[in-house]
Amino acid sequence: MKSFGIHTQIYFGEGALERLEQIPYKRVLIITDPFVVTSGMIELITHPLENARIEYEIFKDVVPDPPVEKIATGVKAMLEYKPDCIVAVGGGSAIDSSKSIRDFALKADPYGTCALIAIPTTSGTGSEVTSFAVISDPQAKMKYPLVSPDLTPDEAILDAELVRSVPPAITADTGMDVFTHALEAYVSLNNNEFSAALAEKAIEIIGVFLLRAYLDGNDMHARQKMHAASCLAGLAFNSASLGLNHGMAHQLGSNFHIPHGRANAMLLPHIIEFNSNINKHSRSQKEYLPAVKKYSTVANNLGLSSYNKIMSVRSLVNWTQFMLKEMDIPLSISQMGNITEEEYMAAIPAMADAALADACTATNPRPVTRADVMQIYRDLW
Ligand SMILES: [Fe+2]
Repeated sequence: MKSFGIHTQIYFGEGALERLEQIPYKRVLIITDPFVVTSGMIELITHPLENARIEYEIFKDVVPDPPVEKIATGVKAMLEYKPDCIVAVGGGSAIDSSKSIRDFALKADPYGTCALIAIPTTSGTGSEVTSFAVISDPQAKMKYPLVSPDLTPDEAILDAELVRSVPPAITADTGMDVFTHALEAYVSLNNNEFSAALAEKAIEIIGVFLLRAYLDGNDMHARQKMHAASCLAGLAFNSASLGLNHGMAHQLGSNFHIPHGRANAMLLPHIIEFNSNINKHSRSQKEYLPAVKKYSTVANNLGLSSYNKIMSVRSLVNWTQFMLKEMDIPLSISQMGNITEEEYMAAIPAMADAALADACTATNPRPVTRADVMQIYRDLW
């Protein structure tokens, strides 16, 4: 038996932030990062709360790759203020921090209920609708994925005004993260008709609007579309889970601080090739691997169809590489210039072990061995 549900009420489109004037809560803890406050973006959140005479406090200590100590500070702040609603404002780190803080705090002191409203300021993680959060332990160089329905936000507000000033490099990285979410969910072992519909729509939007949003951040139509695609892809992988791409990208993030979306983008052509085995597929093989058909459908939907399925998958790999080049994302680790070959190669065995143990890897469409993972990491150099 399978089931599919969407817990989060989604408010979107122009003026979506007006929802904050209608919320039925009295005491709001805003959890965000210092940039949202210093840039003045926070006023887009606090003004509607003030208009509705809703009391609020701001916790602005969120940092990227939220470490456990920061989560503990947030738990303390929440238990001192005892809000009936948390408004998470920021990228994946702010939303993931808020999910963990609310969950840990209410377990430590169940003082009442506390709603969670997620307001993303990037079009990337889809965290506003998922039951996942990733927190990290910098000393152990480990990232811990938390998974629980209790983490899922109650509301998401998608207002493209908040992503207008996102710089092109971040638009590129986060946009390719969205593409990876949709594609991994689409070929995942856990995929189903509902997740597939969401992933297909997200991919269609990315094909048309990601480059537009990258080239002109003020193209609000493209921004709004990508903001919706990010949420659609989040819903898709919340149901279908992800795959080896994310399992391997998490390790590049924790070992070399490569931004999450960028690590996914760089790995993606290699993972499509591995999952479809297009380089080793011979004419004598009668059956394609299961992912081949799905990747070729994606290629068709992107307008890249070719005369057979293997060629369609090849065109999808080429399209992905084209997107990376167009948006100035390096194609290899060596191209990045800040990591030595020696330190990278030395890290591969431990990264391979961690990637195999990563929860995302379990739903990859093609079974994967340690030797496969190590080879993909080496190819990425
Ligand atoms: Fe991701």
